[in-house]
Amino acid sequence: MKYKILIIEDEPSMRLGMSHFLSSSGYTVTTCKDGAEGMLSIDKKNFDLIITDLKLPRFDGLTLLKHIRTVSPNTGVIIMTAYADIKNAVQSIKEGAFDYIAKPFSNEELLIAIERFLKFRNLELELSMLKESVREKKSFENLIGISPAMKDIFDRITSVAGTDVPVLIQGESGTGKELVANAIHKLSHRNDRSFIKINCAAIPENLFESELFGHEKGAFTGAKDTRKGKFEFADSGTIFFDEIGDIPLSLQPKLLRVLEDNMITRLGGNTSIRVDVRSIFAASRNLKDCVASGTFREELFYRINIVPVSLPPLRERKEDLPDLIDYFLSHFKDKYNRPELKVSHTAYDALLSYSYPGNVRELKHAIERAVILSKEGVIDIKYLPDEISGASNIAKCINGDLSLDTSVRNVEIQRIIKALNESSGRKIDAANSLGISRKVLWKKLKEYGIE
Ligand SMILES: Nc1ncnc2c1ncn2[C@@H]1O[C@H](COP(=O)(O)OP(=O)(O)OP(=O)(O)O)[C@@H](O)[C@H]1O
Ligand SMILES: [Mg+2]
Repeated sequence: MKYKILIIEDEPSMRLGMSHFLSSSGYTVTTCKDGAEGMLSIDKKNFDLIITDLKLPRFDGLTLLKHIRTVSPNTGVIIMTAYADIKNAVQSIKEGAFDYIAKPFSNEELLIAIERFLKFRNLELELSMLKESVREKKSFENLIGISPAMKDIFDRITSVAGTDVPVLIQGESGTGKELVANAIHKLSHRNDRSFIKINCAAIPENLFESELFGHEKGAFTGAKDTRKGKFEFADSGTIFFDEIGDIPLSLQPKLLRVLEDNMITRLGGNTSIRVDVRSIFAASRNLKDCVASGTFREELFYRINIVPVSLPPLRERKEDLPDLIDYFLSHFKDKYNRPELKVSHTAYDALLSYSYPGNVRELKHAIERAVILSKEGVIDIKYLPDEISGASNIAKCINGDLSLDTSVRNVEIQRIIKALNESSGRKIDAANSLGISRKVLWKKLKEYGIE
């Protein structure tokens, strides 16, 4: 594809000469004779490069440059300038121009400047593509994780996806069981068919059978029409039983039978219907314990536990935290249009230190909330939920990785910053709330370098 260049130059012979030369060098060239025309062209088309004079009638080069930076930030700008105007040219570089060339210049000089820019831009593109592929390596079908435990899980998903064996995914709430089920379906040959989810914890016992297997008209009071069940909807696809530990005991033998022979009968019906489904199960409670306590049938357990996938809680794979934080941050920054947001050092520290009993879901919600609440371009610790902000250095101090001295210091710093924040920086109020004199506070601020 040819590169598109826009030339903005008021002097006709120069404009024409450049246009002629660059077209014959293989570029697609557009020309404008003043700033206003240039402005219109910039808004209409995407150029790879804009070469503009600095002094122009109706909007000068610097004004144009600022406009280009905002509406078309990936377009390069080269400024043409007379020797007398070098100061402004330097200013234009500060404003984001790629380069400037001093008039008069030869065709060759012009070409060198253009090629330098294109080379630079291609390198930049290559770099961002590389970064993207690195990012992809850290994730697998929307599952983020670099920990050995997650890598094992990605491996297992890949091995079972092509088969029809049942998979049982176990893990605490919020560890990503549903994402894993989705990944298996997406990587299977059934991926163009339906993925039907059934939440066993949410269906009343008396409706369960008809939910799963459907019913014929008049099968029970209220069954006004014939209705298909989830198994029929999932035919040729995947059925996902979430919270399988909550399935009523009375239904377990029926489910077991369907899993064995792939035949279902609608409630009130007398014909068997063959279904072709792949079943995936998830449980947040330990099914073995359910078997032991008699709420889950052992035969069913063995039938579904052919390939177990066990998702460890987030606190046991803390090395996944940085990527998860990055991932959710960029997701919610996009979603809420807050591209400028950065995470403060203390907030980041707290996010890394916390133990997340609610696992990845808890982290995700905390980041979403912080992105929404944060002001002044910074996600500060005060925008995190109390339990997370409280985890910061204090957790480290208590866990004993730091000396007592450092621990006390850390806690003091956190406490003083909090008091200052709460008193909007008024030292006397902060000192009062800390129960120390203003002089002691002043000494500590100096010692800790708190501004
Ligand atoms: N490894 C991960 N990478 C990216 N997002 C994740 C990961 N694990 C979980 N999530 C996200 O966290 C949230 C909870 O995940 P999911 O619903 O799969 O958990 P679950 O184990 O099914 O929880 P529950 O038992 O409460 O149903 C979802 O929004 C999901 O997208
Ligand atoms: Mg779930």
